[in-house]
Amino acid sequence: MLHGKSILLIIGGGIAAFKSLELIRRLREEGMRVVPVLTKAAEKFVTPLSVSALSAEKVYRDLFDLTDEAEMGHIELSRAADLIVVAPATADLLGKMAAGLANDLASTLLLATDKSVLVAPSMNVRMWEHAATQRNVETLKSDGILFVGPDEGAMACGEFGLGRLSETPDIIGAIRAALTDGPLKDKQILVTSGPTHEPIDPVRYIANRSSGAQGTAIASALRDLGAEVIFVTGPADTPPPLGVHVIKVETAREMKEAVDAAMPVDAAVFAAAVADWRMAMPATSKIKKKNGALPELSFAENPDILAGVSQSKKNRPKLVVGFAAETDNVIENATSKLARKGCDWIVANDVRPETGIMGGSENAVTLISNGSADVWPRMGKTEVARKLAERIAKELTKP
Ligand code: CTP
Repeated sequence: MLHGKSILLIIGGGIAAFKSLELIRRLREEGMRVVPVLTKAAEKFVTPLSVSALSAEKVYRDLFDLTDEAEMGHIELSRAADLIVVAPATADLLGKMAAGLANDLASTLLLATDKSVLVAPSMNVRMWEHAATQRNVETLKSDGILFVGPDEGAMACGEFGLGRLSETPDIIGAIRAALTDGPLKDKQILVTSGPTHEPIDPVRYIANRSSGAQGTAIASALRDLGAEVIFVTGPADTPPPLGVHVIKVETAREMKEAVDAAMPVDAAVFAAAVADWRMAMPATSKIKKKNGALPELSFAENPDILAGVSQSKKNRPKLVVGFAAETDNVIENATSKLARKGCDWIVANDVRPETGIMGGSENAVTLISNGSADVWPRMGKTEVARKLAERIAKELTKP
């Protein structure tokens, strides 16, 4: 999706400028061309050499560099890319953009471009909250400038609050959203994935088997159709996809908290293999063996996250999709699960060990919705994800 696209990356002069190096690296891994522009202040934080080495491009620095004008004028430079990204965007750069100033290369390119501009602000919390900055942000938003962040958190200056540069995957997600016009553009979709781990003591836990492969493939497929994906994952083997907002959790209760905090969304897909039970009272130190005497474990039931969202009166997503991993009477059990939990669709799969589905690369699913069961042939988990994402797009965009 991002492959072959190009970005003009304007790096502003803030302490977060070093993070632009990681951004360049990740964008290039996605097959993008990144043409960097450094402001004078940015050169105090990152060197042109490192930016050039990582981007494998010439670094543009000075408006009056005549060689550049001969090779490529600033007007052309501002229009050659598919998107302009400003990261980090300092208060000074936002101010120049809002006022329409063009007194250095970065501000001139921003004024001359005919392409979309995405800014990732980064500054001290007081500077972000200042009436002047907020006024500039409002002006820029009404001019159609896209924003990602800032995030809340601890800052290099020792203060805490809004003003941190967004994490690299979130910036990549915003770039993807700005560059796609897939059917799910402007839709927010939550995906849960992986197992949950419920501690018995600090070293042991109970869990369901789950590699996270199917949930990860679904998040990627939804992202590729232009959705903004919130990916809530337990400790899975499969690494989370790029370009989605990742929230890592350990237990079912943490997963529920993250899911509830992500509402409202347009759709939610519950692919996680949540442990049904946890220890009523996990031990705070390691349970030791006692001459063959077995430990007594007493369980408590975990909250049903899918049922909670499906049955919520406020903020229920338009489409709620559950999974049913079954070993017997797959369709019958999945159909009654759909009714019991109150979701709209259930993706049922047969996880008997002999199917090889659990931990494998293929899946054979039946999509159950109100009154119908659509049996899909066995196919790769990526294909299942693509097909499901297309069905979700159709459902969310139907008039
Ligand atoms: N699920 C959930 N929260 C739980 C348990 C399950 O959100 N505490 C979700 C799963 O992500 C999946 C669906 O519910 O989308 C069904 O999960 P499954 O484990 O198959 O069903 P259970 O609720 O455990 O029902 P049963 O024990 O009867 O199989």
